[in-house]
Amino acid sequence: MNQQQINLFFDDLKLSWNKQNEETIKAGKHVMEKMLKREDLKKYLTNQSDNLAKGIELYRDSEFGFILLAYSETKGLYRMPHNHGNGWVIYSVVDGIIEMGTYALIGDMNLIKKEKHQVQIGSSEVYFPGDIHDTQCVSDSVIILRLTSCDLKEEEKQGRIKKFQKPCSLKT
Ligand SMILES: [Fe+2]
Repeated sequence: MNQQQINLFFDDLKLSWNKQNEETIKAGKHVMEKMLKREDLKKYLTNQSDNLAKGIELYRDSEFGFILLAYSETKGLYRMPHNHGNGWVIYSVVDGIIEMGTYALIGDMNLIKKEKHQVQIGSSEVYFPGDIHDTQCVSDSVIILRLTSCDLKEEEKQGRIKKFQKPCSLKT
């Protein structure tokens, strides 16, 4: 796998791009599923393992602004509940297992955990703009591809990202 091949994956997505359109998100998920089927993807990423821990930007679309990032995590790493502002996100598992939970927001800051489940190798999870979720690496390590519809640093700068300081137990 090389950069040119990665770029090619996004040609179809660019043709049908409409950031907030559910069809575009479906097309994005399809791109991720096709990438996950590449047997050389894991090797391509683990060959850059030092950078993978920090996160590698594999693709940034200069016209539409969507970004593909690859990163690794180690067992136990927990990311508190958050959303991605106006951006949508697709998480895809290249290696390992990650547990993801979703939340309902009651009022300004009260969270109720709706569900949690484990996402295995070859699977993807989609979160729409505003969807609150948390993640925890439950295998020794995990390698994730994350496609976001926009630059999350900009969402952060504009104050659109909500982050919560406490995890919350699952209420059924
Ligand atoms: Fe997230």
